[in-house]
Amino acid sequence: MSGKEIDQVTGVETTGHVWDGDIKELNKPLPKWWLWVFYACIVWAIGYWAVYPAWPTLSGSYTKGYFGYSQREHVAEQVAAAKADQARYYQQIADTPLDQIEKNQELMPFVMAGGAAVFGDNCGPCHGKGAQGGPGYPNLNDDDWLWGGTPDAIHQTIMHGIRSTDAETRQMQMPRFGLDGILTPEQIRDAAEYVLSLSNSATDQEAAKRGATIFADNCAACHGEDGKGNQDVGAPNLTDAIWLYGNKLSDVEKTIETGRGGVMPFWTGRLDPVTIKMLAVYVHSLGGGK
Ligand code: HEC
Ligand code: HEC
Repeated sequence: MSGKEIDQVTGVETTGHVWDGDIKELNKPLPKWWLWVFYACIVWAIGYWAVYPAWPTLSGSYTKGYFGYSQREHVAEQVAAAKADQARYYQQIADTPLDQIEKNQELMPFVMAGGAAVFGDNCGPCHGKGAQGGPGYPNLNDDDWLWGGTPDAIHQTIMHGIRSTDAETRQMQMPRFGLDGILTPEQIRDAAEYVLSLSNSATDQEAAKRGATIFADNCAACHGEDGKGNQDVGAPNLTDAIWLYGNKLSDVEKTIETGRGGVMPFWTGRLDPVTIKMLAVYVHSLGGGK
């Protein structure tokens, strides 16, 4: 016995499935419209498989479909079109003198976007994504420049690096006053206190006084009599309370002891000339540009 019966209330036959003794399932077929949509989907899917790339194959490839459609080709076409579009910008940047690029309203959006992207990829790892720097890596947003903040100076720094392996690198190096035994640890401490006193942060005024003479004899040649630095030799301004290597007495002592000698790689040959130009303008624009 199948248990099928006619339901008294609706007059519809049941399927014979019964739950808890009296809950019965009516035998209601799916609506026709629903079925047709369902069949149409199946036909559509088969057609789709035949026409478009669809199934992975055992050989690690996939069925290409009747049209051989490929988004990869599509992308390649779009990239080629974008390149062609950019080419005229590239040419214009190549033809425009560095100091004129910033005045060119048509070029600037392209230069800034390109510069920011290249900076993020190549410079961010050392200087920070926002060029904010960190210990040993200069902040490029502020108005404080080791080697100069004009577009030309920045361009030169990027092209050839600082204490890099490039033949034309910026290379002036602070002497290793401690490591090479030029000054005693006591003299280094005194000089460090004097350096701190230039930004009103000395901890020992007597030591700072003694340090003044040591500074005049050993340091002023590069950092200047007044300690304001010299961009021709990459000697930082010591009076502005902006520190490359930290503002603690021990940081300054270590700088004098070792000479530090931060290294910035050169980019000639690794980035094309137009990209380096874009970077120079971008860095110059970051806020502290001179
Ligand atoms: C491997 C780390 C490193 C990378 C990568 C790097 N830099 Fe530098 N950069 C430095 C260091 C260190 C200095 C400071 C050198 C010194 O002590 O004089 C510096 C200095 C500079 C200066 C001079 C700042 C001043 O005050 O004069 C500029 C400009 C600069 N970098 C731009 C760039 C740009 C643009 C890129 C990317 C193309 C880049 N840097 C990539 C480490 C790096
Ligand atoms: C030959 C030139 C030269 C002489 C001499 C010299 N310096 Fe420097 N000094 C530099 C350069 C270049 C740097 C930057 C080093 C770097 O970027 O890695 C520097 C960096 C420093 C810094 C780091 C500043 C910061 O922002 O962290 C201090 C402090 C300093 N010098 C103090 C001295 C003192 C004190 C003396 C003398 C005992 C001295 N220097 C002598 C060239 C010189």
